[in-house]
Amino acid sequence: MKLKTISLPKFGDDRGALVVLEVGKEIPFEIKRVYYMFDTQLGIRRGFHAHKELIQVAIPVKGSCKFLMDDGYEKVEILLDNPNIGLVIEPMIWHEMYDYSDDCVLMVLASDHYDEIDYIRNYQDFEREVKNG
Ligand code: TYD
Repeated sequence: MKLKTISLPKFGDDRGALVVLEVGKEIPFEIKRVYYMFDTQLGIRRGFHAHKELIQVAIPVKGSCKFLMDDGYEKVEILLDNPNIGLVIEPMIWHEMYDYSDDCVLMVLASDHYDEIDYIRNYQDFEREVKNG
């Protein structure tokens, strides 16, 4: 499985850094929702779901964390530790997040509003949907 990442333009000078993202440029969907995770406790693993239709981009604005990405056939781990690199989470990718650094602020841009109907939270259901459609 090839993971998709997006490089965001970064501007830095002696004042610090500035990263920008624009819909239709770096972000290939209309952003309908933004959420972010922080103060994640040591040893916590989150996620454990796939989405039927939602597309998301996860950006570690501060700190780092790891993602396990699983398309039902192959599992790939990626470390997110760069605030100008976003990870694209496409539909039907089971994902888990873990090894959050103490200071991690993980921001997620989403193509739609929150809708529990779009979630697959049971791994066996996920595998069945991948294999049988
Ligand atoms: P949860 O789905 O457990 O997060 P994750 O699976 O990514 O670790 O979400 C935690 C809570 O936040 C849960 O009660 C649902 C709520 N929530 C919203 O209301 N809106 C949202 O956009 C998200 C992502 C979560």
